[in-house]
Amino acid sequence: MKVDILIGLQWGDEGKGKAIDVLTPTYDIVARFQGGPNAGHTLEFDSHKFILHTIPSGIFRENTKNVIGNGVIIDPYVLINKEIKSIDAYTDVKNKLFISLRSNLILPTHRLLDHANEHLLGDKKIGSTLKGIGPTYTDKISRKGIRVGDIFLSDFKNKYKALKQEHLRQIECLNFDYSEVKIEGLSFEDYESAWLDALEKLKVYNLVSTEYMINDALTNKKTVLAEGAQGTLLDIDFGTYPYVTSSTTVTAGACAGLGVGPSKIGKVFGLFKAYCTRVGEGIFPTELNDEMGDYLRDKGHEYGSTTLRPRRCGWIDLPLLKYASMVNGVTDLIMTKVDVFSELESIKMCTEYKIGGKLTKEIPFDLTHNIEPVYQSMKGWQRPLSPTTLPDNLAAYIKYVEDYLQQKIFLVSIGPDRKDNIIFE
Ligand code: GDP
Ligand code: IMO
Ligand code: MG
Repeated sequence: MKVDILIGLQWGDEGKGKAIDVLTPTYDIVARFQGGPNAGHTLEFDSHKFILHTIPSGIFRENTKNVIGNGVIIDPYVLINKEIKSIDAYTDVKNKLFISLRSNLILPTHRLLDHANEHLLGDKKIGSTLKGIGPTYTDKISRKGIRVGDIFLSDFKNKYKALKQEHLRQIECLNFDYSEVKIEGLSFEDYESAWLDALEKLKVYNLVSTEYMINDALTNKKTVLAEGAQGTLLDIDFGTYPYVTSSTTVTAGACAGLGVGPSKIGKVFGLFKAYCTRVGEGIFPTELNDEMGDYLRDKGHEYGSTTLRPRRCGWIDLPLLKYASMVNGVTDLIMTKVDVFSELESIKMCTEYKIGGKLTKEIPFDLTHNIEPVYQSMKGWQRPLSPTTLPDNLAAYIKYVEDYLQQKIFLVSIGPDRKDNIIFE
């Protein structure tokens, strides 16, 4: 069997959590392969709403195992005290969750460094979620990180202290005063003590070599779905650098982040909203700083699942989507939040860019200057949607996007609940 992958094609928050939950019944394992608690994946069913940060979105389905792979970074406080606490009454996390011994830990001082770095950038700040993502991946790549498996070693305390001291020295050099900084609402000292407590609690979960678990499962004809976090335009290589996250969010990240070879990859589901949103700083060619932008934010409830920040909104950007589909090798498309358009008379889509007077559908290396999106308008359908209604104008919108991307859309999401979908066979 092969590993299928679901990836966000825009700047995150495309509705990956919901889509994974919808697809999960046909998979034995759902696995996260990168990112960390910067992600916020929302699931709604039976009048409940859950937001997952590090735990895969297959956790609520009866027979599915959920893996936090080696490529993910983990904050034990967020995982245990926030995430697991919020879902423990609804699902058997202890039996369904498997965490890689190779995952790197986000230390309390990584969180401080994130604050320090953003503070120093001033008006050039990334708009990070401040969950410690950049500093933790930096330590991983510079071979200083502490991994989940290290917590069982006899010299763990010394390792922890040494890295903490190094971080505090860096913070001192940066001249950053962290006395007022709150982490998850706590002072650094209180957070560190709660973090160490959570780290002890982590030991009762299934901490294993998940690469064996996944490859053995494939050998035994089990099905695996890899769940992307963030989105292609936040990828460290192909995103709108430097306003990106610090991991490989594209399909290729699934191989390194789970320990599976490229020959084991099956379908690649590319997920996108019928419009665009972005939270944090950075270029956004089709951003709408007007009433229509406010309308989309209001109708789509576009506020961050992790940070509650208002999301920037704009029309769909087809050249960027085509680029994202290319770098991910997408095989199947999913379009979400189509219901947000249901009352609009007309809908716009960016079909090409005008750069220096020239029209192009290619994404330039530097997306930051003099980009003028060129739009095509289409008529709206102006009626509510249901799993069995497909108004002609929506069918035309879908067809236009499919023709542009040269790929089929097999699922259209028309609401936040797991039942709100139009599925094409
Ligand atoms: P993710 O990070 O990609 O999992 O997406 P988020 O959960 O951060 O944001 C997507 C938001 O849209 C959540 O509040 C979802 O409940 C909601 N959502 C998902 N699909 C749909 C849809 O088709 N229509 C509407 N109206 N909301 C949706
Ligand atoms: P999901 O998985 C949307 C954005 C942040 C910031 C940039 C860097 O829910 O789609 P970081 O904390 O990684 O240093 O922030 O990336 N960002 C996201 N935006 N959805 C996410 O995840 C995001 N994770 C990070 O807002 O602009
Ligand atoms: Mg999200």
